[in-house]
Amino acid sequence: MITTDARTEILKRGKTSLAWEGEPLLGGTYGEEEIEAAVAAMRESMTPSVGFGFSAPPIPDFEKAFAEYCGTKHAVALNSAGPGLDMAMRYLQLQPGDEVIVPAVNFVASPLAVMGAGGQIVWGEVDPVTLQLDPNDVEKRVTPRTRAIFPVHMNGLAAPMDDYFEIAERHPHEKHGPLVVIGDAARATGGSYKGEKIGKRGFMTVFSFHTMKNMCTLGEGGMVTTDDDDAAAFCRSSRFYGMDTDVWGTSNVMTKVQAAVGLVQLSKLDSFIESRRRLAKRRDELLEGIDEITLPFEPDDCEHSYYLYTILVKPEWQGEKRDQIMKMLDDEHNIKCVVANPPVYEKRKLLADHTKGQRLPLSEELGRRLFCVPIHPAMSDDDNEYICAALIDCIEKLR
Ligand SMILES: Cc1ncc(COP(=O)(O)O)c(C=O)c1O
Repeated sequence: MITTDARTEILKRGKTSLAWEGEPLLGGTYGEEEIEAAVAAMRESMTPSVGFGFSAPPIPDFEKAFAEYCGTKHAVALNSAGPGLDMAMRYLQLQPGDEVIVPAVNFVASPLAVMGAGGQIVWGEVDPVTLQLDPNDVEKRVTPRTRAIFPVHMNGLAAPMDDYFEIAERHPHEKHGPLVVIGDAARATGGSYKGEKIGKRGFMTVFSFHTMKNMCTLGEGGMVTTDDDDAAAFCRSSRFYGMDTDVWGTSNVMTKVQAAVGLVQLSKLDSFIESRRRLAKRRDELLEGIDEITLPFEPDDCEHSYYLYTILVKPEWQGEKRDQIMKMLDDEHNIKCVVANPPVYEKRKLLADHTKGQRLPLSEELGRRLFCVPIHPAMSDDDNEYICAALIDCIEKLR
């Protein structure tokens, strides 16, 4: 909690001129090491007999390092996470009417992957405390047509994988056996669950190295991790026209320049996460005791990577009042927040039409209550304090 006097001082002191975004456009930092790695990868490609190659080194090196980091047998590098989600769904060979349960409070990518693979999206509610796909709600939505549970490690925190595994075992599909649990960790690279890195648990896990994410490979990039040899071979083959195993595929390859940068970013990832966590913990202290907001929750068995710092306003402040806070932070303090995310079907008619009759009141309410306040590994302690002081100031004005 910040005292009124301290808040006045912090606001007077001001913040850097940076217009912090709720989801900054560069999620980490780049140093000379990344630049040197990229240039070296380019230089060694200048010979006609070498070129940029087909999945050439250091792509396999990056995959090996990433698999080791997550503790998985395989890692397959891709041009972004979206194709990895598509591959995960296509691997299941969904038949018309086969259902996959995904959180409604979500980015569009995983539901689109279900739809693209010919499956039926079944929306699940999220737990209002953790914002993760709620296992109790999942259990209610399982039917004989359910093939997979497709949680998102939302906003940097691990989803409760063991709870989904139990449900998957309890409700096996008649033909395919236990339901498959596949994780979308696009926003959670580097987070931990029960002492293991996210990616270790789950039939397949998909990561993003898009410019905004916890680590970034020159703007785009992704990875699929799995312990399953067949699934890994399927992804490896599908990422380049299905050449290896004669499956359908297109080109979703990562370049060697991206992989060279990815190796450097991976070596820095834990320090990025440490910085995010330090800022978040300090913020938790500074914002403690403000009745109108609930701060991000971190279960004892998880290490949140704080890709986003997600706040909920109290139910009475949902909608308009939440929007006013965001507007005041922007207008008066140049602090931009983001709503990540309202139920996907509210944003995309395509998905709303595909899921007619499925509307989730709790997710809709959460979509009117949540907002994400900027956090970034390179944010100074002063800016972190300023953001907290400004937020309290806005809330007090709106009381
Ligand atoms: C939850 C989630 N899943 C998937 C993606 C897709 O990632 P990419 O841009 O690497 O395809 C994103 C990207 O924003 C995301 O936030």
